[in-house]
Amino acid sequence: MHLLEGRHHIVVPCSPGVAPFLTRELRALKMPIIEERSTSITTKGDFASALKLNLNLRTGQRVLWRLASFKASDPDQLYEKLMPLAWEEMVAADGYFSVTSVVDNPTIRDNRFANLRVKDAIVDRIRRICGRRPDSGPRRDRLVFYLFWQQDDVKIYLDTSGPTLAQRDYRLDPGKAPLRETLAAALIMASGWNGSKNFINPMCGSGTLAIEAALIAQKRIPGLLRQEYSFQSLAGFKNMELLEMRAAAAREARPDRKIRLIASDIDPAMIKVAKENAVRAEVADVIEFITCDFAETPIPEGGGVLLCNPEYGHRLGDVEELRLTYRRLGDFLKKSATGYEAFIFSGNRSLLKEVGLRADRRWSFDNGGIACDLDAFPLYKGSREKK
Ligand SMILES: C[S@@+](CC[C@H](N)C(=O)[O-])C[C@H]1O[C@@H](n2cnc3c(N)ncnc32)[C@H](O)[C@@H]1O
Repeated sequence: MHLLEGRHHIVVPCSPGVAPFLTRELRALKMPIIEERSTSITTKGDFASALKLNLNLRTGQRVLWRLASFKASDPDQLYEKLMPLAWEEMVAADGYFSVTSVVDNPTIRDNRFANLRVKDAIVDRIRRICGRRPDSGPRRDRLVFYLFWQQDDVKIYLDTSGPTLAQRDYRLDPGKAPLRETLAAALIMASGWNGSKNFINPMCGSGTLAIEAALIAQKRIPGLLRQEYSFQSLAGFKNMELLEMRAAAAREARPDRKIRLIASDIDPAMIKVAKENAVRAEVADVIEFITCDFAETPIPEGGGVLLCNPEYGHRLGDVEELRLTYRRLGDFLKKSATGYEAFIFSGNRSLLKEVGLRADRRWSFDNGGIACDLDAFPLYKGSREKK
């Protein structure tokens, strides 16, 4: 049984709120949607499409290739059913792998025991066939196998990504309260921005929103930046296919656009960090970085999207001070951003009310365990008068 041949289920986990944008990305890549859940989308395809998803997806967390699905009621059955799988096709006898799991089975009190049985099956089979055994341990930057075991239902996956796909390799310095790159991409997709108009990002912090926007505008996929994926550790993996995919993606990229991308922050240290990140993302030449109070951010003619992620504080004192910031932000939008659509991403609804504009749309997300909203405020000429 060849585990990497034929069409398999592919599961792409995502953070809460991101699923509709991940679905949109999968459809654009011509992948079928088999199942939509709030924190994962299942599609189906061959192994080349799993590689393609790793390189292309902006909003997914990882790409899980289903190896097998079967019934097992206890750890011994689990071991017995994993043994016949051709693990030696994936793990070199002198290779390394780790096992992780989500388990809800009455015979398992500690997931580590389930992980151990998976590891035993892999190691015992490879030792029997190859005469020596691979190493295993906690490192997640080589081969990773995922066990999902709910009651009697077992699904075992190869995590083809390794470290989360949010890691694009450009943000070495994350700054103060950075957005995950996958969430930043989802916020931009929610705003409807597609690179044809201006993009303004006051309070840019480490620059994640502006950098992701620049990458979207240039049609540069994350796989042109990130160099390492777990699938490269597969036994006998040939880099040729990956290189060809990257070369084809590089030909699709469009560096020139007649739009302006402006990112500003009051903290010069953050602007320095954002610029360094943009250099690594190879988009520093298309983003104008400015150190200023958000209210001084230049808003060019022509309209577009203004998207910002102000602090939302958790201590009361901070929140009181932030009320003023949000009020000033509302005034700035009303006065200076006519012709734009403004989007504010915040983890504090009462602060969002201080903006003093009525949101016409809202999306809810999770940002590192904090429920956050993205509110849309249309500021088109005459829109306020109409209301
Ligand atoms: C939550 S962080 C933004 C994080 C950013 N989205 C990222 O991914 O790194 C908010 C930023 O607003 C900036 N800021 C706070 N008050 C400001 C003001 N009055 N004018 C401009 N920027 C301000 C802070 O320096 C901080 O970098």
